[in-house]
Amino acid sequence: MSRLRVHNFAISLDGFGTGEGQAPGRPFGHAGERLHEWMFATHYWYAMGGGEGGGTGADDAFATMHGQGIGAEIMGAGKFGPPGWQDDPGYRGAWGPNPPFHSPVFVLTHRPRPSIEMRGGTTFHFLDASPADALKQARDAAGGLDVRLGGGPTIIRDFVAEGLVDHMHVVQVPILLGRGVRLWDGLESLEEAYDIEAVSTPSGVTHLTFTAKGR
Ligand SMILES: NC(=O)c1ccc[n+]([C@@H]2O[C@H](COP(=O)([O-])OP(=O)(O)OC[C@H]3O[C@@H](n4cnc5c(N)ncnc54)[C@H](OP(=O)(O)O)[C@@H]3O)[C@@H](O)[C@H]2O)c1
Repeated sequence: MSRLRVHNFAISLDGFGTGEGQAPGRPFGHAGERLHEWMFATHYWYAMGGGEGGGTGADDAFATMHGQGIGAEIMGAGKFGPPGWQDDPGYRGAWGPNPPFHSPVFVLTHRPRPSIEMRGGTTFHFLDASPADALKQARDAAGGLDVRLGGGPTIIRDFVAEGLVDHMHVVQVPILLGRGVRLWDGLESLEEAYDIEAVSTPSGVTHLTFTAKGR
């Protein structure tokens, strides 16, 4: 069975998955790049940019799992673009002409539009659908591979609440954001549904893995 997986989702100590004040060129608002500095130092990240170098330790080993065995992604409207992107009929996402997904990507939005085919195998599809229906469509498109739930915090929370997420890798970063969108609000007793493990690395982050019990 194709699994629904979350990878490299970074939160602050106070649980925020993004800051306040998203705008073009500021996808994390006042958080800036602080949630992902651990990842920018990895070989995985350098290689994504076509470069050499970067650390090959534990942070890299976790980061690399992001793309393994993935055939489609689901993301929220807040990840696809800054507030108001739905008002721009020419908007094509925040990643340029060759986005790093290389697979079908299903964008959940209450204002859907026709699909957009990008270079490198990424096609953005826009869905106004329940989490379960969106997952069914993404699974059909994933060709037997797993589906990644790319964020942001709102849709991850919604899919977890519906019991749809099989595996989750959350990275707790030692910063306090104070404001933004929290990942865990409204969820409780996650430990009853998931086996949870934690690994802290020299960069100062803690990798948390959540594996759904009995799946
Ligand atoms: N920390 C990380 O590792 C990480 C990773 C990825 C992204 N992010 C950040 O997360 C932020 C975005 O997160 P977010 O929580 O604000 O938003 P989000 O989870 O990306 O998207 C939520 C939005 O998606 C639409 N939506 C959700 N469920 C829907 C459904 N069932 N049907 C139709 N539309 C639905 C709604 O938008 P509309 O009503 O407007 O259509 C809703 O406001 C960005 O700042 C991004 O940079 C962080």
